Amino acid sequence: MRDSGLNIGISGLGRLGKRHARNLAFKVSGAKIAAACSIVPEELEWARKELGVERLYSDYDAMLDSGGLDAAFLVSSSSVHASQAIKALGCGLHVFTEKPMGVSLAECLEVERASSARPDRVFLVGFVRRFDPSYARAKELIDGGAIGEPFLVRSQTADLDEYAPFQVAFVPSSGGIFLDMNVHDVDLARWFLGAEAESVHAMGGSFVHGEFESVGDADNTVAIIRFAGGKMAVVSASRTAFHGHDTHTEITGSKGIIKIGMTPASSRVELFDSLGARVECVKDFYERFSDAFLAEAQEFVDCVLQGRRPSISAQDGTKATEVGYALTKSFREKRPIDLA
Ligand code: NAI
Repeated sequence: MRDSGLNIGISGLGRLGKRHARNLAFKVSGAKIAAACSIVPEELEWARKELGVERLYSDYDAMLDSGGLDAAFLVSSSSVHASQAIKALGCGLHVFTEKPMGVSLAECLEVERASSARPDRVFLVGFVRRFDPSYARAKELIDGGAIGEPFLVRSQTADLDEYAPFQVAFVPSSGGIFLDMNVHDVDLARWFLGAEAESVHAMGGSFVHGEFESVGDADNTVAIIRFAGGKMAVVSASRTAFHGHDTHTEITGSKGIIKIGMTPASSRVELFDSLGARVECVKDFYERFSDAFLAEAQEFVDCVLQGRRPSISAQDGTKATEVGYALTKSFREKRPIDLA
């Protein structure tokens, strides 16, 4: 570690990578972007101009091999998270990786092994919703017994229809709708229920954009997950929302219910006019979770600087991918799947 803070090498400067990079460069205390990597030349140019980063790489291994880094911050395509995390841990770096940790169970288990081999290195999977104040408060209430024993989670992730063309192109590297979107809902269900999934039954279709079917994916899905002890979750995803980015979650317990973000309002303003009563909605995931993205990056840096272990482990990353993968298999094979 240098006096100027944690020297971070960021991998991936796309839709989300640029936002993380801005946070790390200008808002996260104790952080410094020492190097950046992307396979898109214009993005490297952006990092030079906008962030003043001088060490720029189109090859991730070359960035790590050139040394001088304390941490790798992975916002690259999901299909390369696992290999990049393993390489960074092998080089003795602390690692933050965006979700999903990997796109197959086998590669997640390899990441887990690499992380356990370096217990002195911080490893954090970016399940950003856990850092959102409303989700964090819900967890605090549940742990304090506010709704008794939680037994049912219903959680939805929906993106605006206008982003569907981008999402079609994204499928080959994202692992598909369950691993890309529902992996968040699966992580929340595990977190809130305090139990592991035992079986899943997923279904879905390309109801609006036939292109998803041609890449083996769907634009709308729903799935039932049975957890240990008979606990349940219903997770759904949509890529065809017209009102905004609509992430919401409901947890039912033996003594009450908690609802989080049921209306994705962008402010507290309500408009009452001849058309009725309306609220404006958040447009995308970043507008909804911008505070949480900053908080998770700060937590990663603080864990390193203070020698703390983060609350999310590599095992959490594996479990969420395992369920996401089973959901994909269940959807494609049109049958329920038991987890081992
Ligand atoms: P994107 O497609 O806009 O950007 C991908 C970036 O990865 C590009 O900069 C590309 O150059 C880089 N990349 C790909 N292969 C690489 C390689 N081998 N070495 C170095 N760089 C490489 O994708 P987007 O939307 O920015 O997503 C990136 C990651 O962030 C994904 O894993 C996605 O699941 C995750 N994400 C998480 C969200 C959340 O809510 N936590 C929301 C959006 C994305």
